[in-house]
Amino acid sequence: MSFTVAIDGPAAAGKGTISKAVAAHFGFAHLDTGLLYRAVGAKVLRGADPLEAAQTLEPIDLEGENLRTPEVAQAASKVAVDADVRAALVAFQRQFAARSDGAVLDGRDIGTVICPAADVKLFVTASAEKRARRRLDELNGKGMGLGFAEVLADVQARDKRDSERATAPLKPAEDAVLLDTSDLTAEQAIAQAIEIVQAARA
Ligand code: CDP
Repeated sequence: MSFTVAIDGPAAAGKGTISKAVAAHFGFAHLDTGLLYRAVGAKVLRGADPLEAAQTLEPIDLEGENLRTPEVAQAASKVAVDADVRAALVAFQRQFAARSDGAVLDGRDIGTVICPAADVKLFVTASAEKRARRRLDELNGKGMGLGFAEVLADVQARDKRDSERATAPLKPAEDAVLLDTSDLTAEQAIAQAIEIVQAARA
């Protein structure tokens, strides 16, 4: 029996941190679906056709720190508007979710489109300022030397594009549990997420 945890939310809300910790706690596999769109976006920045890039994506394309830049994030959010690009990535995500050992997928449309029957759906949010501050610390921790205004602008532009697109827009599934991490430490957010998953498992 597979067990699927869908974790969605706006840019830099803490989905990755929470997803990794939940997956580790329950021994589930984790898929950061944003990486799929980032990898397609990175290929497009290098001159590729978006649909062809999505159709020929390979595991190796998902590796590398160069996918974590605001420039690639913007490119990802632009290719993610394209319904054909999204469709090309559906099967891989659903196959991953069906793993019998349990799976956590994080993204924008996991609870609404990819896994509408997920056992647990979390919608993780925080204020744009808090999210930008955390992302700034994360990126500058890797020596990127970005400014707050630049990171906030990336987060806000992507949230707008991701929420307003016609196909699979960013929004909570009707049955999603909302987790606002604005005033929570990472440890507190993780503990709440684990509690919610635990309750659904029981
Ligand atoms: O880590 P962060 O929240 O900043 O972004 P991400 O999850 O890596 O996603 C990068 C971009 O990919 C988003 O801004 C979305 O446009 C797109 N995306 C999507 O459309 N659907 C998903 N399931 C995941 C990401």
